[in-house]
Amino acid sequence: MKTKCPFTRLLKNNPVGSLLAFQNDPYKFFDEHRPADTTKPVSLNLGFRRFFFCYDPRHAQHVLQDHRHRYNKSSLVLKKIKALSGPQGLIQLNDKDALGVRQTSAKLMNTAGMDRLVRKVDGFVKEIFPVIDQAIEKKAAVDLVPHLTRIVLRTAGVFVLSHDLISESDKLNTAFVDLNRRAGESLRSLGKCPFSPGQRRSLKTIHSELDRIAEEALQEDAPSLLTAMEAKGEEKLFIRDQLKAFLFAGYDTTASSLIFATYLVAANELAQSKIALEARSMPSLTYENLKKSRFMQSAYKEALRLYPSAYFLPRESSQEDTLEGVKIPKGSQVFLSVRHIQRHPDYFDNPNEFVADRFCQELKHPFSFIPFGGGPRVCIGAALAKLEATLVLQKLCERYEMRPLHPAPPEIEALITAHTKAPLPIFFKRREKIAAVQS
Ligand code: HEM
Repeated sequence: MKTKCPFTRLLKNNPVGSLLAFQNDPYKFFDEHRPADTTKPVSLNLGFRRFFFCYDPRHAQHVLQDHRHRYNKSSLVLKKIKALSGPQGLIQLNDKDALGVRQTSAKLMNTAGMDRLVRKVDGFVKEIFPVIDQAIEKKAAVDLVPHLTRIVLRTAGVFVLSHDLISESDKLNTAFVDLNRRAGESLRSLGKCPFSPGQRRSLKTIHSELDRIAEEALQEDAPSLLTAMEAKGEEKLFIRDQLKAFLFAGYDTTASSLIFATYLVAANELAQSKIALEARSMPSLTYENLKKSRFMQSAYKEALRLYPSAYFLPRESSQEDTLEGVKIPKGSQVFLSVRHIQRHPDYFDNPNEFVADRFCQELKHPFSFIPFGGGPRVCIGAALAKLEATLVLQKLCERYEMRPLHPAPPEIEALITAHTKAPLPIFFKRREKIAAVQS
C-alpha cells in the first residue's frame, strides 16, 4: 500500500542525517558523508528537508552552469544572512534583478579603477612595515591577522564608499564579525533563530556608520559603488543594502583567503623567493602587470583551492531535475562542497599539498576550482580579491623572508565562511637578496 503522509514517504526512501552533526561541525559533516565514489550526489534528510550533498566537479558544472535554470540560491541560507546582506542586497536578488547591480559594479572594475585600488592597497601594506621592522629588532613574531583584516576592510571601504575606513575599522570590524558569527551559528542550526538584541545592536552600528560615511562621501563625488548607484537614481535604502552586501560578501572572504595564503607562503621558502623575484622584475606597479605575475597568481589560487572561504555553495531546486541519474525533487537543498571538489584526487595530483605553481598549468575540469562560484551568479568581486591578496603577498615577500611560528596548518572554524581559529604569528627577516630559484 502506498504511504499517504509525505514525511513518512520521505523518511522511508531516504537515509536520515543528523541535523545536530551538521549544526555542530558542518566541515566534519561534509567530510564524514563524502562517498568513496563521488559520481552520484549523496541524498539525506535533515529535519524535514531533503538535501543532496555534491562532491564532484561534474555536479558543480551541472548545477551552476548546464542546468542553472533549475536552481536558485538556497532560500534557507538566504533567510539566515538577510540581515547582513540587506533584504534587497545583490546576494538576495533573483538573477534578473541582480543584473543591473552587477553591471554597475563591474564598470567600476575597469583598468583605471583597479589601478587606483592598486595604489591604495600598496599604501596600506607599507603601513605595516614599521610594525614588522620593530618586531624584527625585538626578535618577536607578529600576528598578521588584525593587520591583514584591516587592509581588506580599508580596501573594501575605498571600492564601496571611496572612503578609507581606518578610523571606523575597529567598530565596523567588531559589528561585522559579530553578525557573521550569529548568522553562521543560526545557519548551522538550520532552524529558526530569533532576531536577538545583540544582533540588532551590531546591525544598528553598521547602518549608522554607513549612513554617516555615505553622506560625507557623496559630497566628494569620487568614483565608488555608492556614487555609481546614486548617479543611477537608486533609492537610499536600496543603495545601503548594496553597500552592506558588498562589504559582507567581500570583507570576510578576502581577509580569510589572505590569511590562509600568507600562512602557506610563509611556510614555503621557495615560493617566497619566487614571488619576490617576480615582484622585483615587474616593470611598474599596475593592475595589468600584477595580473601577469603568473607565479603569484598561481600561489594565491592554490591557497584558495586548499582553503576556500566559501566552503560550500547552497542551491535549491526550483523544478525537478536529474543529476547523474539521481532524481532531485523540486524544493530540494543542493549543497556543493567546494572544499572537496577542489581536493578531488581525480582532478588534482597530491590534492592536499600546497603546490604553489599548480595553476601555471591547465585545470583538468573547469569546475574543479570554484572558490568564487560559477555561472551567472559568480562572485562579482573576484578580480578585486585577487588584486588585494596578490599585491599584499608580493609586497611582504619582496621585503621580507617569513616563517610561521607554528608549522602546523591553522585550525579552521567553519561558520558562514571558513576562518582560522587562532592568531597567525609569523617571524620576519629583512630580505637581502633573492636566493637562486630553481625553475
Ligand atoms: C577571496 C575572496 C572572495 C571569495 C572566496 C568570494 C566568494 C564568493 C562566492 C563563492 C560567491 C557566489 C555565491 C553563490 O553562488 O552562492 C560570491 C558572490 C558575491 N561576491 Fe564574492 N568572494 C570574494 C570576494 C569578494 C569581494 C572582494 C567582493 C566585493 C567587492 C565580493 C562581492 C560579492 C557579491 C556582491 C556576491 C553576490 C553576487 C551575486 O549574487 O550576483 N566578493 N563571492
